Amino acid sequence: MSEFVKVGSIHDISPGQPLIHDFDYNTVVIFQVGDAYYCLEDECTHQEVPISDGTVTDCRVECPMHGSWFDLKTGKALNLPATKAVQTYAVKIIDEDVFVQEPDDW
Ligand code: FES
Repeated sequence: MSEFVKVGSIHDISPGQPLIHDFDYNTVVIFQVGDAYYCLEDECTHQEVPISDGTVTDCRVECPMHGSWFDLKTGKALNLPATKAVQTYAVKIIDEDVFVQEPDDW
């Protein structure tokens, strides 16, 4: 079973300022929308562009390169040119610390 790994504090994140965290094999980004936090792999599935540089609106993030939108809850690509979902990871807040579930295959 995957473990939750502490990646920072809720004070490191705000609606306009996502938190980026480097794991051994990839980089993830945690976005805040209202009181909710969403973690996705920080890479567009169209090309290797960080989605952390994108604009967040209505629980979606827009890739800054070609404008594909991704659902922050599911990672689903909502329009072309991206067609594949971005990997999402479970987020847990304990007190004021942010934890992300490390996938089994890392
Ligand atoms: S690199 Fe993200 S839509 Fe093309």
